[in-house]
Amino acid sequence: MPRPILATIHLPALRHNLERLRRAAPDSRLWAVAKANAYGHGIERVFPALRAADGFALLDLAEAERLRALDWRGPILLLEGVFEARDLETCSRLNLWHVVHCEEQIDWLAAHKTHQPHRVFLKMNSGMNRLGFTPAALRSAWARLNALPQVDEISLVTHFSDADSQRQGTDGIAHQLDAFASAAQDLPGERSLCNSAATLRHAGRALGSGRLAADWVRGGIAIYGSAPDHPEHRSADWELQPAMTLASRLIAVQQLQAGDTVGYGSTYTALQPMRIGIVACGYADGYPRHAPGSQDCGAPVLVRGVRSRLVGRVSMDMLAVDLGPAEAGGPPCCSGDEVVLWGRSRHGAVLPVDEVAQAAGTIAYELLCAVAQRVPFAVDDGETPVFTA
Ligand SMILES: Cc1ncc(COP(=O)(O)O)c(C=O)c1O
Repeated sequence: MPRPILATIHLPALRHNLERLRRAAPDSRLWAVAKANAYGHGIERVFPALRAADGFALLDLAEAERLRALDWRGPILLLEGVFEARDLETCSRLNLWHVVHCEEQIDWLAAHKTHQPHRVFLKMNSGMNRLGFTPAALRSAWARLNALPQVDEISLVTHFSDADSQRQGTDGIAHQLDAFASAAQDLPGERSLCNSAATLRHAGRALGSGRLAADWVRGGIAIYGSAPDHPEHRSADWELQPAMTLASRLIAVQQLQAGDTVGYGSTYTALQPMRIGIVACGYADGYPRHAPGSQDCGAPVLVRGVRSRLVGRVSMDMLAVDLGPAEAGGPPCCSGDEVVLWGRSRHGAVLPVDEVAQAAGTIAYELLCAVAQRVPFAVDDGETPVFTA
C-alpha cells in the first residue's frame, strides 16, 4: 500500500472559481494565470477546467509548450516576456504573446527574423518597482515597438502591489491607477491591470472612460480557491471553493499523560491526559515546518471532518494532531482515519488553505506551490469519488 497521502485537484471548484471571477468582471476577457505549474496544481490536471478561460498567462516557455501540447490554440501570454533573444523563435513558433518590460527586450525584437509579427503587452511600472517602463519612458518604448515590423499589436499592462489591502492610500491601488491612467491615457491598445484581488475588490471602478477591469483581467490565486485578501475576506466571502485538498491518514495513535511531550524539541506538553494522532504528512511533503503546534497555538486540521489542531513540531514525514475534538463527537480515532491538511473533507467540512497559511505565517500561494513531488495527485472530476488518501 502506498503511503496514505494524496493531493486532490477539484475540477468543479476550478470551474466555479473561474466563473466567479468572470462575474466580477463580466465585460473583460480572463487570463487564467497558470505559472508555477498552475500554482502547484499541475497544468495538465487543471486544463480540462481552465480551458474555459480566454487565455493562459505564465512564465516558462516549457509550460507554454505543455499547453500547446494539450492542443490549446488560444492566447498564451508570457508575463515576464522573453529571457533571451532566441526565446523569440519559440514565441513565433508557438504563437505566444509576450510582455515587454525593458529596452533590451525591444532590441531583441528589432533583431528577430519572423514572418509572423508578434502581439506584445508593454508593461508599465506604475509603482510596484519590479518590472516595466516608468511613466516617463512608456511613450518612447511604445513608439519604438510601434515602428517595428516584428510587432503586430501593442497592449498595455501594469501590476498592482497592494490590490489586496488598503496599504498605500485609501484603497491600495489609487496611486498606481493614477500613474497608469495619466501615462497611458492617449496610447491606443487593450489594457490589462487586474489580478485576482483587484478583480474581486475593484473591477467596476472607472479607468478613464472605461473600467478598471478593462479588456483583460489576470486571475490567479482566486481561481485556485484562495481569498487574495485573506484575512480581511475569507474564501467563502468571495464564494470561492478549494481547488486542492491535501489529505492523509492517521498511522498511529498515542495516549499521553499530563507532562508528556510531543515530537522533536518537545515543544508541546500535555497538560492532562489526551490522545493524539500521528499523520503521514511532513515538511518533505510540502507541509510548512514552521506551522505552530504549541500550547497556545496550533495550526488547524480536520480529523474525520472535525476541526482540530497540530501539536508539536512538524517533522520530515509526520505530524501530530489532537484527537480530542473528533473523539468528543464520535468513536475513538484509529489508524486509517482521514486527516485533511487543507481543502475539503469527505465528511463535507472545508478547511481553507488560507487559514493554514496564516497560522504558519505565510500565504496560500506558497503552500499550494510547495506540495512536494513525492505526493501523489488525483483529479476529482465531480463524478468519481477520489477521497482515498
Ligand atoms: C503580472 C501578474 N499578473 C497576475 C498575477 C496573478 O495574481 P493573483 O494570483 O494574485 O491573482 C500575477 C501573480 O503573481 C502576476 O505576477
